[in-house]
Amino acid sequence: MAVSMAARDLGAELDREDLRLKPGQVPSPAALAEWVGLSGLWCRAVRLSWRELLKLKGMGAVVLLMRDGSASVMARPDAVRNVVWLKDPAVAVEQDGVPVDELRLSQLWAGEVLMLRPDQQSRTDNEAWGIGWVARVVATERGVIRDITIGSIVMAFLSVVPPLLTMLVIDKVVAYKALSTLLMASMVLLLAVVYETMLGYVRRQLTAIIALRLDLKINLFVFRRLLGLPIDYFERTPTGHIGYLIQQTQKVRSFVTGKMMTTIFDMINLIVVLPVLFWMSVPLAWMVLALGGVMALIIAVFIGPIRRVYAHYLSTEVRKNTILVETLHGIRTIKSLALEPAQRDAWDRRAAESAYWRRKLDDISNWPETLVTPMDTLMTRGVLMIGAYMSVTGGSASVGSIVAFMMVANRVSGPLMSMARLMQDLEEVRSGIAMAGMVLNNRPETVNPSVGLRPRFEGALSFRDVKFTYPGSKNRALDGVSFDVPAGTILGLVGRSGSGKSTITRLLQGINREYEGQIKIDGVDMREINLSHLRRSFGVVLQENFLFRGTVRENLLAGRQGLTLTDAVRAARLAGAEEFIERMPMGYETIVEEGSPNLSGGQRQRLAIARALIHDPRLLILDEATSALDPESEALVNANISRIAANRTMVIVSHRLSSLVDSDQILVMDRGKVMDIGPHTQLLETCTVYRQLWQQQNRHMESFRSSKKSTALVPGA
Ligand SMILES: Nc1ncnc2c1ncn2[C@@H]1O[C@H](COP(=O)(O)OP(=O)(O)O)[C@@H](O)[C@H]1O
Ligand SMILES: [Mg+2]
Repeated sequence: MAVSMAARDLGAELDREDLRLKPGQVPSPAALAEWVGLSGLWCRAVRLSWRELLKLKGMGAVVLLMRDGSASVMARPDAVRNVVWLKDPAVAVEQDGVPVDELRLSQLWAGEVLMLRPDQQSRTDNEAWGIGWVARVVATERGVIRDITIGSIVMAFLSVVPPLLTMLVIDKVVAYKALSTLLMASMVLLLAVVYETMLGYVRRQLTAIIALRLDLKINLFVFRRLLGLPIDYFERTPTGHIGYLIQQTQKVRSFVTGKMMTTIFDMINLIVVLPVLFWMSVPLAWMVLALGGVMALIIAVFIGPIRRVYAHYLSTEVRKNTILVETLHGIRTIKSLALEPAQRDAWDRRAAESAYWRRKLDDISNWPETLVTPMDTLMTRGVLMIGAYMSVTGGSASVGSIVAFMMVANRVSGPLMSMARLMQDLEEVRSGIAMAGMVLNNRPETVNPSVGLRPRFEGALSFRDVKFTYPGSKNRALDGVSFDVPAGTILGLVGRSGSGKSTITRLLQGINREYEGQIKIDGVDMREINLSHLRRSFGVVLQENFLFRGTVRENLLAGRQGLTLTDAVRAARLAGAEEFIERMPMGYETIVEEGSPNLSGGQRQRLAIARALIHDPRLLILDEATSALDPESEALVNANISRIAANRTMVIVSHRLSSLVDSDQILVMDRGKVMDIGPHTQLLETCTVYRQLWQQQNRHMESFRSSKKSTALVPGA
């Protein structure tokens, strides 16, 4: 109750039903935190000491979980009087609550605290992915970046010290044999080396920290976003394609912590080094700057063409990758249909295409590299020649200063060129960001997970003139469908393949939401219902079900909070899975492999049914769940249907009419339209389509019956 109160203060409603408590059971702090999380609030269960508790302020709401299972909201801590003010939801007290001191609290409270606040993460989560997002995330690392910059400035100054000392040593020490100066110079040099080493270490550490944080933020963001996308997006887009686009986010990290950082260092270096150069010799400085400028120009000129070739190369890589993922996914089909040659051909073509563009890319990238190298050599040798000439004719340049100049000048061309290259990298990152954005910036299913009603379902369904067309498709998948299903009854769905049966179940689960007309559950419009609440209220079994890698028990519980092995056993029994699970060597702890080769189709399906039943849903959808089963497994599942159906509404899609005979109603679909609806016996009389289907599937029975009418041994039926 205290938790609900705290949540309400923050503007979120919680539903006790979601907690799934047995009477008298006290929820664990972790379960409570997850429960609060469902409403879209940020919530963590932590253990705090009294002193930490006193320091909490302006942190949203704090709920203390007492030893006896009750809870109190902390109104505020009062460090001055060494008390905390508690509000007990059961007692209506004044606004501030009652003050409680350390001793009294320690008798009631063991340190469990639930902290709640409006989800800040979700704010950046709802922002579009793009350069702006990256910039904002990088900006949060302001402090670290500032430290790195300061360190780099110091290092840039330090790096000028050795050349200047060299000049000093050559001109003064060697010329005048001044040993004391040499000693001093050595000391300074040593000091500079020590500092430089230390700073370099710290700088690398800091860079690593930024890289790590950025990585984490990007990873969290990307995965959340990905899971938030509607299913139909994944159905429209090849998995390999999505995977490749998502990988592009990696570029952001490597750019920010790689190229961007080095360019910042380079710029700082340049700014520090240039004045030193001009101080040493104006004409030589100009020469170096001019050559450096030309080199940067050469690189800049090639950026455009390189970028174009690179774009081609990238798109061939995407296509290649799509084939790879497709092949891995469909490897069973490929092997069994002996499609390897065709697949290999396709791969070879894509690989050749990609290699062609890679070659072009290398070709064109080689040019600026080639042109720049002589300039670089020219710079150092030129300095030596011109410096020597100047020193001979004008005498303005000493030997030491020429050597020093050459040492410093080396650090001008580097930064200028890397600046020119930065343009290209920027382009790459930009395109990487855009590619990832093609996935991440699709409209998510729900903008705010806490929006919408969370009614307790009884399970009455109603469709009113529902029309639906899949995006990108011309024909209506559903065309004016209307029907009603009273709570607790079974609806059978039959019809030819493609007639819209699965579409009805998809609309019910809110997988596709752009329909016309009205769908209501217990009289509440579907569009008003909280999406995750809706999905959690359904149990769904499809023809093909994905079992995760893990034990049977883990697969059954599917990570749902507050469920135990007892629940798993109960669900397994209901689904008729108990007998084979117990025969397995490790029982409920048997590992299910990826793709579950150690289970037969029938076993897998019964596991899937058990998984769907684990949270005792009021609504259960079986979409061709038994179609791929052998007759024996099918009979086993069907025998359990009436037990499974107790207390819930079921929608069963099946093309085997015999398994639907006992349904309360059967809906006959044809090309998106409702042909008829009614119980089996009625449909046999009124609906020709149904009668034909029935006769088709039971012809052997009919002939059998008519031929052996006299004998009473009519099996099956
Ligand atoms: N994801 C989808 N995208 C586009 N069209 C679809 C999609 N799923 C089904 N359809 C089309 O919608 C119609 C109804 O399909 P569906 O409801 O799956 O039929 P059923 O389950 O009765 O076999 C079919 O014509 C099918 O081609
Ligand atoms: Mg279907």
